[in-house]
Amino acid sequence: MPSPTGSMDSLRINADFDQRVVVPAPHDDSWVDSPLPGVHRHRLDRIGAEVARATSIVRYAPGSHFAAHRHDGGEEYLVLEGTFSDESGDHPARTYVRNPPGSSHVPFSREGCTLFVKLWQFSPGDTQPVRIQTTEAAWRPGLVPGLSVMPLHEFDGIATALVRWAPNTRFNAHSHPGGEEILVLQGLFRDEHGEYPAGTWIRSPRGSRHAPFTGAEGALIYVKVGLIGATLLEPGAAA
Ligand SMILES: [Fe+2]
Ligand SMILES: [Fe+2]
Repeated sequence: MPSPTGSMDSLRINADFDQRVVVPAPHDDSWVDSPLPGVHRHRLDRIGAEVARATSIVRYAPGSHFAAHRHDGGEEYLVLEGTFSDESGDHPARTYVRNPPGSSHVPFSREGCTLFVKLWQFSPGDTQPVRIQTTEAAWRPGLVPGLSVMPLHEFDGIATALVRWAPNTRFNAHSHPGGEEILVLQGLFRDEHGEYPAGTWIRSPRGSRHAPFTGAEGALIYVKVGLIGATLLEPGAAA
């Protein structure tokens, strides 16, 4: 917890990237206030306070607004529920967006929404804005039957995708040389270490291994591999 009197710049949550971390889906006690009324965060990892290298699920109450801000370290988000809006338009559920370093916006939500957000996790030189409506984009066959992949972004060895698992799909045991991050979006994802219902976030360190599978429910997951935990840009340069 941040000190009530001291600097909050040292706030660290799940900041040891050599550790495997599993954070259950948000619940009543996991939401913390943001500086703006009606906007709450379920914090997954964080280095820094308001200017932070951070991964969070962020919830906007209906009619709430966030302050105008610039993304000095870049912002990546996936809309999980509801519709998120800013001056560039409305971003309904399952929209994937990358706002590169230097971009800015004034966000709000009329009906309320929930987002998965990553700040300060852009590689230097990754300046391309991205906006993909994943309910309309094409799926590609995965490496085994029952697996479908929708690539979202790849740069500098870091790849992000949605992966759809048909019921009772098994993937080969594999290792993650750069680590792996997963947010379960639907269904029930499993591996030999546990079971992960929708909303669960799993961050596996460099060199970790697993053999994932699904049961009768199948699953839809967001996956990022490569250089998990590398501090690509240094937060703190901007106010
Ligand atoms: Fe933003
Ligand atoms: Fe994996």
